[in-house]
Amino acid sequence: MDYQWYPGHMTKSIRQMQEDIRLIDLIIEIVDARIPMSSRNPDIEKLGQGKARIIILNKYDLADERETKKWEKVFTDEGLHPILSDARTNTIRKALLPVVREACKEKIERNKRRGIMNRPMRAMVCGIPNVGKSTLINSFVKRSAAKTGNKPGVTKGKQWIRVSGELELMDTPGLLWPKFEDQEIGKKIALIGSMNDQNLVPEELAEDLIARLTEHFPGRFSDRYCVDETKDVQAILENIAVRRGCLKKGGEADFEKTSRILLDDFRSGNLGRITLDFADEAGK
Ligand code: G4P
Repeated sequence: MDYQWYPGHMTKSIRQMQEDIRLIDLIIEIVDARIPMSSRNPDIEKLGQGKARIIILNKYDLADERETKKWEKVFTDEGLHPILSDARTNTIRKALLPVVREACKEKIERNKRRGIMNRPMRAMVCGIPNVGKSTLINSFVKRSAAKTGNKPGVTKGKQWIRVSGELELMDTPGLLWPKFEDQEIGKKIALIGSMNDQNLVPEELAEDLIARLTEHFPGRFSDRYCVDETKDVQAILENIAVRRGCLKKGGEADFEKTSRILLDDFRSGNLGRITLDFADEAGK
């Protein structure tokens, strides 16, 4: 199947972001730590030219630690000020503000020279769907509200989400891009659950996942489902169906149901911490 998903609202949103970009100092790009390269939207890359940048590798609790460290170095070298995050733990706000100061150093200095002392940095928060953007923004705002005892401030005109006196955020909708030139990228985005599942064929994705994991993370299927990983992908899927009792009336394997279980297990971390983009393979 062709992996693609670009509904009309995404075209509208990117246009709005192109208009709004002049209002902001900084782009905070949220990527999924399991696919730190494939979840980077090239349209955001273009949009962010000349702006200070921070990249948040969210869901790093689900990603392979060694690979994440490699990506952290790649992004540091590229001047993207990476932050590793598990958005559900509410610890990100503390980590974020010093990195904002560092990423926006030049702008803050310039403001100071002009006598502008208390202007917060304004950041556009971008990311593909389902990377955890809402969870992250909520955790920024909750902490701030708890600290000051006030409701998070929203300034007039544009909707700015106030994190602190130093930082305001502009939220943007989860965006993909019009065409994945490389279908590998599309598949990985589908695997992590950032593409509308209704358009996908679960069996195809599950077989793709089995092929990747038996190559790069051997032992995950034998550990979880007690199946023989040396078989071909279809046989492995069939064995998982039998182990899980996913059988149709006649006793044959229910591949669709099994595939959905497998994808859920991968997405929720039940197969262990897994990364699908490898810095070494990407020549980084
Ligand atoms: P979005 O705004 O970018 O679309 O993402 P959102 O915050 O809604 O998060 C999507 C799902 O990812 C949520 O799960 C959320 O709890 C989970 N999530 C967000 N950040 C992290 C993280 O750092 N680590 C882990 N493990 N999970 C995270 P959900 O409500 O169960 O939705 P779904 O998974 O059923 O789509």
